Amino acid sequence: MDEKILSKFFDRDDGHKLEVYEDHGGYDAARKAAEMSREEIVNEVKASNLRGRGGAGFPAGVKWSFIPQETEEDKYLVVNADEGEPGTFKDRQIMQRDPHQLIEGCIITAMALDLRYCYIYIRGELKFTEDIIQDAIEECYDKGYLGEDIFGTDQDLDIYTHISAGAYICGEETGMIEGLEGKPGKPRIKPPFPAIVGVFDAPTLVNNVESIACVPPVINRGAEWFANLGVEKNGGPKLYGLSGPIKNPGVYEAPSGITVRELLESPEYGGGMKEGKELKAYIPGGSSCAVLTPDELDREMSFEAMREVGSNLGTGCVTFVDQDTCMVRLAARLAHFYHHESCGQCTPCRDGTGWSAKVLDAIEAGRGRHEDLDLLEDMTGQIEHSTICALGPSLTFVVHSYLDKFPEEFEAHIEQGECPFPSWSLDDTKPAAAE
Ligand SMILES: Cc1cc2nc3c(=O)[nH]c(=O)nc-3n(C[C@H](O)[C@H](O)[C@H](O)COP(=O)(O)O)c2cc1C
Repeated sequence: MDEKILSKFFDRDDGHKLEVYEDHGGYDAARKAAEMSREEIVNEVKASNLRGRGGAGFPAGVKWSFIPQETEEDKYLVVNADEGEPGTFKDRQIMQRDPHQLIEGCIITAMALDLRYCYIYIRGELKFTEDIIQDAIEECYDKGYLGEDIFGTDQDLDIYTHISAGAYICGEETGMIEGLEGKPGKPRIKPPFPAIVGVFDAPTLVNNVESIACVPPVINRGAEWFANLGVEKNGGPKLYGLSGPIKNPGVYEAPSGITVRELLESPEYGGGMKEGKELKAYIPGGSSCAVLTPDELDREMSFEAMREVGSNLGTGCVTFVDQDTCMVRLAARLAHFYHHESCGQCTPCRDGTGWSAKVLDAIEAGRGRHEDLDLLEDMTGQIEHSTICALGPSLTFVVHSYLDKFPEEFEAHIEQGECPFPSWSLDDTKPAAAE
């Protein structure tokens, strides 16, 4: 993609400064939005086919239209910057390199829905981005872009940053809302949805960092332009975080709907697998998505195309897996992650993730039995549809897809009584000692 919309400052050191942002047309979209009616802004976002970039892919404009307008109470915007899923690392780039595009997105969103306060909820481990965002917020207050009557409208907006304690569950929108209220991040039963009863019981819009950063270009250049950059129902450019043993791991901007093969093989993006590494599998959008195999490399990176093969576009951050990786070990590692991050309030998640981790550990160590494979499938199957949030069910997709796509690896561990893959330790990743 020649023109960069979301990553134009990613290779600069000064893109976080207001002066640089404004030199590139920054805050023109906010000025334009100030001349539009609330309804016009919402309709533009609807028509742009912008889908939520936090994992679930809900159409942004449709979600916006759920925020009640007839109420007198203060309404909130919460920007989900809790990015913590294994394999996902794109939002931090926006926060670090282009905080003003995020803030301008917050301003336009607030104008569209009459949102009085905004919280940017930042993962604890990304504390360094808070300082950058806070400086950008202060620059905006100095200019009158935040505070009272912004951009000549009667809209007031204050933006606050909030640092999370660093728990993956706080990325779940209602866990995050509890966290903002100073409580443990235990997700709430929905309905009511945050649009009606959100933070401090007020109507609240929750959107991902990248979703909000897409709003200024939608308004500046129009819904049709944005929609046409992508494919049907998936508008705009997208940030893809590529990781694994590939030549050029990193965060890249490319159109929605690009194929996985292009992302992996093009010299502009991943550049192919590293010398001596062969692709065995890929996880399309963060660890919570079902694993896919090389025969699915020509899939489009769209929500529909990924659902057709039982997976998900998720966050669009692809993890490539090579032939030396033990899929049982990978599944076990993820089971430990989900168990560790479970908030514990739903028994199927709390216990199901923990027992799955134990059974997977036993299989990986060569102590598994053939009947353990059915046990695993059954046990993880019982997590789905029986929990308040989607954390536990993510492990269902993981385990079911690994069992389905790589049954021979599970069988080999049981038959051979040991892991057939080379053992691996953290020491292997350290540089060799100097001679
Ligand atoms: C366990 C869990 C963790 C999540 N973590 C994040 C996250 O770090 N960032 C994010 O934007 N969405 C995350 N989500 C999705 C949010 O609940 C929510 O759908 C999203 O923030 C909505 O924004 P969007 O519509 O712009 O995608 C998570 C969901 C679950 C179940």
